[in-house]
Amino acid sequence: MHSQDPAATPLKTLPDLWRAEHPIVMLTAYDASFARLAVEAGIDVLLVGDSLGMVVQGQRDTLSVTLDDMVYHTQLVRRGAPQALIVADMPFLTDSTLDSTLRHAGRLMQEAGADMVKIEGGAIKAPLISALTEAGIPVCAHIGLLPQRVRQWGGYKVQGRASEDAVRILHDAEVLADAGAQLMVVECVPSALGARIAQSVAVPVIGIGAGAGVDGQVLVMHDLLGMNPHPARFVRDFLRGRGSIAHAMQAYGDAVRNRSFPADHEGFV
Ligand code: KIV
Repeated sequence: MHSQDPAATPLKTLPDLWRAEHPIVMLTAYDASFARLAVEAGIDVLLVGDSLGMVVQGQRDTLSVTLDDMVYHTQLVRRGAPQALIVADMPFLTDSTLDSTLRHAGRLMQEAGADMVKIEGGAIKAPLISALTEAGIPVCAHIGLLPQRVRQWGGYKVQGRASEDAVRILHDAEVLADAGAQLMVVECVPSALGARIAQSVAVPVIGIGAGAGVDGQVLVMHDLLGMNPHPARFVRDFLRGRGSIAHAMQAYGDAVRNRSFPADHEGFV
């Protein structure tokens, strides 16, 4: 039976957002109060990112975030934003085998109330994304810079500058879209590559440090609020000169929708 509870239905679905002619606005959220504010400010999609390891827990990277952490924070966000479209990250090593991926993604959907799970990784993740999709779990792929690989890669580095890397990342995008990913985050690639990916796949591509030629943008909330002492090039402090967090979030949404964010100098070449 279909639920009669209006709070159980997202106000905006991905197809609604995709049909709208303006870019999609995504923002991270980790608790109920900020989730409510973000929705009231018109943010389209909330991402419960494993960036919470850094901005909430004070860790040096995202690797120590557990599935229980993600379930807890996603529950808080869902409580604050009952009708929001919520994407929850699969944290480090929770997507290593088919069985564990299904079980862990299932918890994020059933216990925590996520609408979609996000998986970091390239074409190698295609079988997992197919299996989740077949099981009825919507997936957002995350390609380009993969923060969960930071120790293996030796830091946060722009990806896809060398032409063979650009070809590989474009291939990742195509394979993951074919595997069933319904949304794609592309992190820290040259703006031209971001645009090329968005033109090549038939799913919305959300950029972070991927230029303005994509279908939407995502920022970590603490970055948007100017709380990062060492902001990356693609970060803009939307609180500066505005009196409140609500206005900062609205300004971010406006700037993404009218394509004034990111500006050229906030992207990579
Ligand atoms: O964890 C996170 O917040 C993310 C964004 C940086 C896209 O994955």
